[in-house]
Amino acid sequence: MLEWGDDPAGRQGRLDAIAAEVRDCTRCALHRTRTHGVPGTGPATARLMAVGEAPGENEDRQGRPFVGAAGSLLTELLEGIGLSRDDLFITNVLKSRPPQNRDPLPEEVLACAPYLDRQIALIRPLVILLLGRHALARLVPGAPTISRCHGQPIRADDRVYLPVYHPAAALYNGGLLGALREDFGRLRGLLSELEADRAAASPPVGTPHGTADDRADAQQLALF
Ligand code: URA
Repeated sequence: MLEWGDDPAGRQGRLDAIAAEVRDCTRCALHRTRTHGVPGTGPATARLMAVGEAPGENEDRQGRPFVGAAGSLLTELLEGIGLSRDDLFITNVLKSRPPQNRDPLPEEVLACAPYLDRQIALIRPLVILLLGRHALARLVPGAPTISRCHGQPIRADDRVYLPVYHPAAALYNGGLLGALREDFGRLRGLLSELEADRAAASPPVGTPHGTADDRADAQQLALF
């Protein structure tokens, strides 16, 4: 059985295959008005995944998530806790831009759901950062509103989610910026805690833990 962190090349290949499907996707009407499908960016081995709402105008033009003003704030918040964008996989609930950036429609969220589900299943991040209410509603149905649960980790379906205000909401309403910064501080602590738990629970990547024969085989392989 593959352990977390194993076979990064195979996982990256499968993630790239999902990206190719997204770029050609016609599962909902948004494909008629978008310029580019925006699958997401980042490594298949990311310990942190961030999920936003949907591509905006800049993202639609470039085919990459969070490249506009909200993206600059996201980068700043990440750097403020010692992370770079290259450390995480960033994506959205919707992979195609809704016209005039209107809210996603339920049928669009449903049509796009398999892409996000497959990305999460492949990456198996330690933490899924939920950027705003649409990501929260999509991945934790029945959760309280974002204003009530931001900054509080939610453990569900064997996953750990951290809901935070959407950076675009904080750009629009500067009063949310303090809470957003505080929640990113919590994210740093949560990641450290979960990384320590995982290191304690599993042997280092590449360490065999099967039968004596398995270990001997693995030692042989390690020699080459
Ligand atoms: N807002 C989002 O939710 N996603 C993006 O990619 C950009 C802005």
